[in-house]
Amino acid sequence: MAPAFKPFLSELDNPQHYAKLKQRIEAGKLSDAKEATSEQSKLLYPEYLVAATPAEANKYNNQKNVDGAKTDKGHLGDPEFKSLFNKPHKKFDLSPNLGTEIEGIQLSELDDQGKNDLALFLETRGLAIFRNQDFRDKGPEFAVNFGKYFGPLHIHPVAYSAKDHPELFVTFRKAGDGSRYEEAFKYTTGSYAWHSDVSFEEYPSSFSFFVALEAPESGGDTLFIDGREAYRRLSPQVQKFLEGLTAIHSNYYQNKMATLRNQVAKIKADYFTEHPLVRTHPVTGEKSLFFSRVFIQKIKGLKASESDAILNFLEDHVTNNPEFQVRAAHRGTDSRSVIVWDNRILLHSHCNDFLQHETSARHHFRITNIGEKPYLDTEGSSSDDEKPKAY
Ligand SMILES: [Fe+2]
Repeated sequence: MAPAFKPFLSELDNPQHYAKLKQRIEAGKLSDAKEATSEQSKLLYPEYLVAATPAEANKYNNQKNVDGAKTDKGHLGDPEFKSLFNKPHKKFDLSPNLGTEIEGIQLSELDDQGKNDLALFLETRGLAIFRNQDFRDKGPEFAVNFGKYFGPLHIHPVAYSAKDHPELFVTFRKAGDGSRYEEAFKYTTGSYAWHSDVSFEEYPSSFSFFVALEAPESGGDTLFIDGREAYRRLSPQVQKFLEGLTAIHSNYYQNKMATLRNQVAKIKADYFTEHPLVRTHPVTGEKSLFFSRVFIQKIKGLKASESDAILNFLEDHVTNNPEFQVRAAHRGTDSRSVIVWDNRILLHSHCNDFLQHETSARHHFRITNIGEKPYLDTEGSSSDDEKPKAY
């Protein structure tokens, strides 16, 4: 029998483990939603750390982008990206195939064609790191309006957000010393968590703009995997086999953890959403492996040991192939970095290497565009929501 595939955070099903975590939260050893209040005054950007209030419970739902495949701004992008790179700048490719670091271009100054070019750039390079951005000082209203250009904005069910702007998703790890490391690795030898943002949604994310508010000088990188190359690397027979499969994605354990951390859910529902395991990009037509490990529960219709074997193989395949991985360093608060990626072709994970050191907070906000419903185009034609799926 194949070893069981353990959905991310499924250890919460163990009542003893659950009780232990609860005890440690109550003892103040692990932070819960109260930190949004207790840590706020210590932050450079306190308005970007707000926990949902009971009045917001279950307020947002049904987030869609029905025409997303057709209206994607990448369709309007110039393959030479002339309006994106219209100023003196420096570029450095993180690897020959994936990710580019850019200095000298100010995202907030891009005109519409520059933004179209940016969309297409992300859809080909996957990932761009912009340094020295003024983005975070322009305020949440600016960020929301900037993001809306690329499609509807997602409101996260359980995450922190910015004050009066639930569309701005906030990630936060408070400043501290090595005691954070002891807590983070108490029950686990590793904490990577590959995913594509909000893949549990029927319409998951297209682009994520990850804006550093405060970042450790070293470490806390975001790690990336190229799902296109992960797909291409497989043999034609296995590619074909995977193209016939549907994965079930869920936020069930994320919700369970949020409840444990006393977070009010803006959306209470546990989704169990079906997506093709291989998806087609609506602009480039490229196929990629849509293996959002954190949210995938099982392969639809397969027996448990069959599903376990396939998912364990895929985890090994994406995790142990450095040729299609890169890491984006945030490089401290003063680097003023904005990291942007296309969730349809990349997986990503945090990296907790900074926790054994005394560091400032790691504090970011994210603009998350809702993309199209994932589909697999097996006929080479363009797609829409009515198109029959390959499963
Ligand atoms: Fe993420």
